[in-house]
Amino acid sequence: MKVIKTVAELRAEISAAKQQNKTIGLVPTMGALHEGHLSLIHKAKEQNDLVVVSVFVNPIQFNNKEDLEKYPRKVEDDCALLESNGADVAFVPSVDEMYPEPVNDVYDFGPVAEVMEGPQRPGHFNGVAIVVRRLFDLVEPNRAYFGEKDFQQIAIIRRLLEIMRSETCHPNIEMYRNLELVPCPIVRAEDGLALSSRNARLSKEARNVAPNIYATLQQAVEMSECEDVEDVKQWVMDTLESFHEVNDIPEELRFEPEYFEIVDDTTLQPISRWEDAKGVVGCITVWLTGVRLIDMIRFR
Ligand code: PAF
Repeated sequence: MKVIKTVAELRAEISAAKQQNKTIGLVPTMGALHEGHLSLIHKAKEQNDLVVVSVFVNPIQFNNKEDLEKYPRKVEDDCALLESNGADVAFVPSVDEMYPEPVNDVYDFGPVAEVMEGPQRPGHFNGVAIVVRRLFDLVEPNRAYFGEKDFQQIAIIRRLLEIMRSETCHPNIEMYRNLELVPCPIVRAEDGLALSSRNARLSKEARNVAPNIYATLQQAVEMSECEDVEDVKQWVMDTLESFHEVNDIPEELRFEPEYFEIVDDTTLQPISRWEDAKGVVGCITVWLTGVRLIDMIRFR
């Protein structure tokens, strides 16, 4: 595996691969890799000749300075994991290498960005789109892999592709037309907690409580057989908010749900009746001991 730190080296590697007609799979990550990332890499390996994994904590997608500072960074461990899981290239740029000049692009994602994470994290999706576009332009992948834990992020990248395909006068238009977005299922720990780099910040006690987020979502799916959307939504919020009291758990280990929405899986707009959409998912964000945890479940 090659560890590449500069754009110039990356471009040379990509152009050599293109000359040999190799297909390229891109797995964008912010590092602190876990089994969830590895599942994306394995999928990319199955489907492409060359797998490029980027490891870059993208400062412009953090709207909270403390979150950026506390984001786990383990580049050496990450590179060892990438090597043993068959990645061909680890692209590990510095901030200056990625952004030699400030990028001020502003994207209009429309309604998919107006719900859930959108209002909670202003500027976040714009920052994600800027870095993903930069990676697409540099790596020119045939396929790009994203985990469904960040369900809304996938809808944003899909929208970014639509935007790029509609702007016909840029050099990479053909690449954008052909680029396939490959969403991959959430990987969970045995106890059900969705794997996330942020889980490393949970204490042992908080880590023991955290799987109850997914357990609550699973119960919500059972409830949806006979209850209305609004009642299921309210039940999830109430159950998590009162979880520590009902289960005699110390106050500091309480769940603080930020939102729980039941949405159409394509438009991401909240539904009011189960039959309002063909595909229905529930998306949740919960704070636990200052760590922001995200999860989702499919209802229909
Ligand atoms: O999902 C992530 O880890 C990040 O948002 C991504 C896609 C790597 C962009 O920085």
